[in-house]
Amino acid sequence: MSDHAHTAAEQSNLPDLHIDRYEGWWIRISLIMVTVFAVAVAISSFAWGIQLPGYYQRIDPQTLNDPSSPFANPGLRELAPGKYEAYMTAQVWSFSPSELRIPAGSEVTFYVTARDVQHGFKIAETNINMMVLPGQISTLKATFKEPGTYNLLCHEYCGAGGPTIGHHTMYAQIIVEGEEATAAK
Ligand code: CUA
Repeated sequence: MSDHAHTAAEQSNLPDLHIDRYEGWWIRISLIMVTVFAVAVAISSFAWGIQLPGYYQRIDPQTLNDPSSPFANPGLRELAPGKYEAYMTAQVWSFSPSELRIPAGSEVTFYVTARDVQHGFKIAETNINMMVLPGQISTLKATFKEPGTYNLLCHEYCGAGGPTIGHHTMYAQIIVEGEEATAAK
């Protein structure tokens, strides 16, 4: 072995990982981006309450009308004051039920499945935005603070073995009633 000064890598028996200057910069930029994305995901999920549409469970679309099925009689069920669950079905080209009425401030967990083909389930002005598939129950939760009418839209082009003629007519409404409307009942 020659007697020139040994490099740090030779002394520690580690491979000499030469990193080009620009490569080094890209590695740093990538790490910064990953950190920014992780922070953005944390803020949107914990601070803003944005949820991923949850996969709840599978269901045979043929059984939706069985008396034991929660989808045989779709609609709203009150779990506790201000807490509801809504069972809904999507089919060409409607949602069942086509209207839900809830008092302002209610928290509603939606359980939705499709009878025929893939549909969309988006409630304007809320975090609810999910896909509805036959054979699967999709679920998301929302709190309706402000009274008003919230439109529920199908936002997946849908049709049963043919053109999507009625897709744009597929909608339902969630009517959030204020204090007076609730008290008057
Ligand atoms: Cu259902 Cu578009």
